[in-house]
Amino acid sequence: MWGGRFSGGPSSVMQEINASIPFDKRLWKQDIQGSLAHIKMLAKQGIVEDDDANKIIVGLEQIFEEFLENGVPVDLTLEDIHMTIEKRLTEIIGPAAGRLHTARSRNDQVATAFRLWVRDAIDEVLQSLHMLQCVIVQRAEENADIILPGFTHLQVAQPVTLGHHFMAYYEMIRRDIDRFECARNRLNVSPLGSAALAGTGFNLDRDMTSSALGFDAPMGNSLDAVSDRDFALDYLSAASQSSLHLSRMAEEIIIWASQPYGFVSLSDQWSTGSSIMPQKRNPDAAELVRGHSGRITGQLNALMMVMKGLPLAYSKDMQNDKPPVFEAHDLFGLCIVSMSGMIETLTFHADNMHKAASSGFSTATDLADWLVRDLNIPFREAHHITGATVRHCEDNDIALSEIPADILTSIDGRLEGKPLPDLSVEGSVNSRISYGGTAPLRVRGMIAIAKQECGL
Ligand code: ARG
Repeated sequence: MWGGRFSGGPSSVMQEINASIPFDKRLWKQDIQGSLAHIKMLAKQGIVEDDDANKIIVGLEQIFEEFLENGVPVDLTLEDIHMTIEKRLTEIIGPAAGRLHTARSRNDQVATAFRLWVRDAIDEVLQSLHMLQCVIVQRAEENADIILPGFTHLQVAQPVTLGHHFMAYYEMIRRDIDRFECARNRLNVSPLGSAALAGTGFNLDRDMTSSALGFDAPMGNSLDAVSDRDFALDYLSAASQSSLHLSRMAEEIIIWASQPYGFVSLSDQWSTGSSIMPQKRNPDAAELVRGHSGRITGQLNALMMVMKGLPLAYSKDMQNDKPPVFEAHDLFGLCIVSMSGMIETLTFHADNMHKAASSGFSTATDLADWLVRDLNIPFREAHHITGATVRHCEDNDIALSEIPADILTSIDGRLEGKPLPDLSVEGSVNSRISYGGTAPLRVRGMIAIAKQECGL
């Protein structure tokens, strides 16, 4: 395509390092979309005659059908998807194909196609994150009253409800969705018509191509338009953040499914066995969600490092923008669907959760709160009294509710003749009705709002 300037051809290794067609073939639909918008605009502006423009349109539509049916042919000598399509167009309609590239460069062409691709990717992600949210809300509602230990430092802290625990992830995913929506809004401007870097002398209608492609407006600076990839970094950053949330959820499933915990069982659909230990049921999908998040955030880092230090405008380094996004998108898509599947089919072992929630003096805070509320003892003193009570119970291997009255009185005289309140885990969770708290009543209120948001 640029042979005029050269007498010899490139070495085969030059061709190999230069070629992006093995991966950027994934942009074929978006590239054709961009070309169709461009040629229609060139025709309307009288820059290309209708006759030639029509040939180009029919040719591009034919290529669309061919690639849809047979895939994209990979020929390293054609370098990238843009050249591959132009070459095929030339085969189909002859020299008129050469008019498509009027007032355009591969620099604005690839920036446009990639933006369109990332926009489609965001739309896919938004749909599947929404599905995951629905699954989470449903499971939260079904299991709103199950009590499990809430942990800090992975030490039993206070009892919480399973509905509350799930709804914590609902909130995280709601923010993830918001991040993707913001990324989409920022992305949605058109580089097309910026040409190589400086704009063009042709009388373009950039508003026309922008709206034909569903963008909000043409980008206002041609140097910026062809050379920034922050929209791809926005995607990777939102995907990384969200994949970290999925990874934490996956980690909890792994812990909960382990025998010492026994809080959940994964369905057969989402478990694997061991080739040597017949009793094993392994949470491989959850482990891979956890592992994939490392690769996804690695891709964010990869593209940041590619972009750092590039002078304006386009440099070939930027061809390396696509593999990180493609890899992250594929992995992230798998993670979301796998999490939905695992959560949808998890079995909860409420008895084991309840037992664990009752261990470790998990309602000690409720005792301290009672001392404050009913005996008007300052919280710091109440904390101290409760600590001494817990120590006695621990030393004598009894529950808080079993502590003899005289021991209580010896710990603090103000406790004389004051039987302890209900310190059950049920009493504890039911009492936590503060806004955002774990009480089933409160959580059900949040679930109702979430169901409305999800259209359930
Ligand atoms: N394959 C190239 C890329 O993805 C297309 C842009 C080529 N532009 C250029 N000036 N060589 O970045």
